[in-house]
Amino acid sequence: MNIPDSNTTFPLPHHDRLCFLKNIITNPNIIVGDYTYYDDFEDVRNFEKNVKYHFDFVGDKLIIGKFCMIASGATFIMNGGNHLTDSLSAFPFSIFGGDWASAMEGKTYPYKGDTKIGNDVWIGHNAVIMPGVKVGDGAIISTNTTVTKDVEPYTIVGGNPAKIIRKRFSDEQIEILLQLKWWDWDLEKITRSVKILTGTDVDELRQMLNE
Ligand SMILES: CC(C)(COP(=O)(O)OP(=O)(O)OC[C@H]1O[C@@H](n2cnc3c(N)ncnc32)[C@H](O)[C@@H]1OP(=O)(O)O)[C@@H](O)C(=O)NCCC(=O)NCCS
Repeated sequence: MNIPDSNTTFPLPHHDRLCFLKNIITNPNIIVGDYTYYDDFEDVRNFEKNVKYHFDFVGDKLIIGKFCMIASGATFIMNGGNHLTDSLSAFPFSIFGGDWASAMEGKTYPYKGDTKIGNDVWIGHNAVIMPGVKVGDGAIISTNTTVTKDVEPYTIVGGNPAKIIRKRFSDEQIEILLQLKWWDWDLEKITRSVKILTGTDVDELRQMLNE
């Protein structure tokens, strides 16, 4: 079998604007699964620049599954960008030191946890994912969408703030797809299944499970 290699940084010949993302990541708090790709109109290394306010001292992680498609300009806002929202002022006095240094004593900035993107998720051009959001397997984030809340598996969302556009399949089909977890199959089986995966028949995919 001739199976594309997920360890190849630039899998398209003569094209360095699309990469298998895991191969260019340098930040240990960004974890990316096999075959997830990122394309960028200018430079794929813009990806890490688009993970904003991602500070080591906060320690939050951006975790992205396998076989995701991430378009140019997709941006992830991390917890380091959070200010106080329940206080009289959101101004971060303490970071400027001097007699302001103690302003945050006994207080903490809002923290929403890690950002988790499932498997086979398509993130459209210029989408923005807010801190702590969990995006389920098979979801689609439309162009220019700002995702502020978790997205259920196999759901298309759009707008600002993101609203459900539609589910991609029936609840029963989604249940089966989530059980099959094709992205975790061995590569030979995935390779034998690519025509089914690009079709619409969930039962055909289920039959591959025992092959
Ligand atoms: C969402 C998308 C996948 C289309 O899905 P679709 O099911 O064919 O959607 P339709 O075009 O039929 O539109 C369905 C509804 O979603 C809305 N919609 C589509 N794109 C939207 C967007 N980016 N933001 C908000 N709403 C959007 C439509 O207005 C329509 O609304 P309505 O039901 O009130 O009329 C597509 O619009 C999209 O955003 N693709 C991403 C493209 C991209 O960024 N590619 C990057 C290169 S990989």
